[in-house]
Amino acid sequence: MAVTQETMIVDVDGETIDISGVIQPIDGDASGKNLLCMQQLNAEGIQPYIDEAYAAELIIKNRSRNGINLLPHVVLKAVMRQPSTRTGGSITTAMRKLGGTAELISGMHSSSEAKGETLADSWVAFATQADIIGTRTAEDWGPALAAHAINEAVEYGQLWQRVPVINLGDGRNEHPTQALGDLFTIHKRFKRFEGLRLAVVGDHERYRAHHSLMLGAAAVGMEIIVVESPAAPIPSSLVELLGANLVARHGDLDIAMADTDVLYLGRNPDEYTKKDDEDEEIVRREKARSEQLAADYEGWIVDYDRLQRMKPGSIVMHPRPRRDELNPDADSDPRMKDVEQMANMIPMRMAIIARHLGKSIVEHV
Ligand code: CP
Repeated sequence: MAVTQETMIVDVDGETIDISGVIQPIDGDASGKNLLCMQQLNAEGIQPYIDEAYAAELIIKNRSRNGINLLPHVVLKAVMRQPSTRTGGSITTAMRKLGGTAELISGMHSSSEAKGETLADSWVAFATQADIIGTRTAEDWGPALAAHAINEAVEYGQLWQRVPVINLGDGRNEHPTQALGDLFTIHKRFKRFEGLRLAVVGDHERYRAHHSLMLGAAAVGMEIIVVESPAAPIPSSLVELLGANLVARHGDLDIAMADTDVLYLGRNPDEYTKKDDEDEEIVRREKARSEQLAADYEGWIVDYDRLQRMKPGSIVMHPRPRRDELNPDADSDPRMKDVEQMANMIPMRMAIIARHLGKSIVEHV
């Protein structure tokens, strides 16, 4: 999942692309750039999103305003090729709160791909209809393929504008808008990142929200504890990128809970478990992985009683949807921030849309 010189060439749905041309560093200026992965951002690159999200929140919580007319007639298309309750809905709400219009496409049942259109052609078609595209794909680097196809169409003189692509979750790879919203939630609670300790629990191999959050948390100076299963460890490329910020790796949730400021849970993403393949060895390995991981998740269930082991003032986050790993009986504990975390995605996604279209909300508060 991590981007290295060797992995700049990726295979997306049978198409080999060089993603180096679409993954620009996002420093002070995000205007016109794609947001594809957290490696585009360092601490200085993350802070403007936080500042803009604070401003967006002030505006939408002001009942006499409810929003801001920053992007009139500007169109966002949210193309959700995988199911979503939160992300697709919140990015379209975010665009409407900015005065623009937004269309949510859930699933591809009405797409001309059914007539044999390629993914790349499909992305160029959407780019003729929108000023910014957000997308979720089942394939790792699916949004990079979209950005690549749009780039080519611009270079060939076929498209008149380069439409920024925002990754709303790509397969087992990344979920950068979730991570930025998660960092905003942490900042709202602690007013800093430096020196805070984050414990992340679950499948670290295939859960994209974990990948993006860990990269973002390391960039802003947080210490990271990974509670992991031997069946789904943190990828070695990610370990390398986290460097000294990764302070511990083990499978003991209780030790991690006692020693952390932010506990981050995620469900078992078992939709990626391969249940049939011509290669029997792959099926056997997937079955063993799945059984081990399910057993480890059983030992990581957080409920109200277990939550009492955490420090007062610490917080618990979960990107949702949740399953058994987070018992609803914990919801009343003041440390639970997962609903606020969801709500925080609206101002953060307003910040992301505004910044990638070259606008600032801060100056309109
Ligand atoms: N957190 C998150 O990505 O939720 P959805 O899958 O519902 O969008």
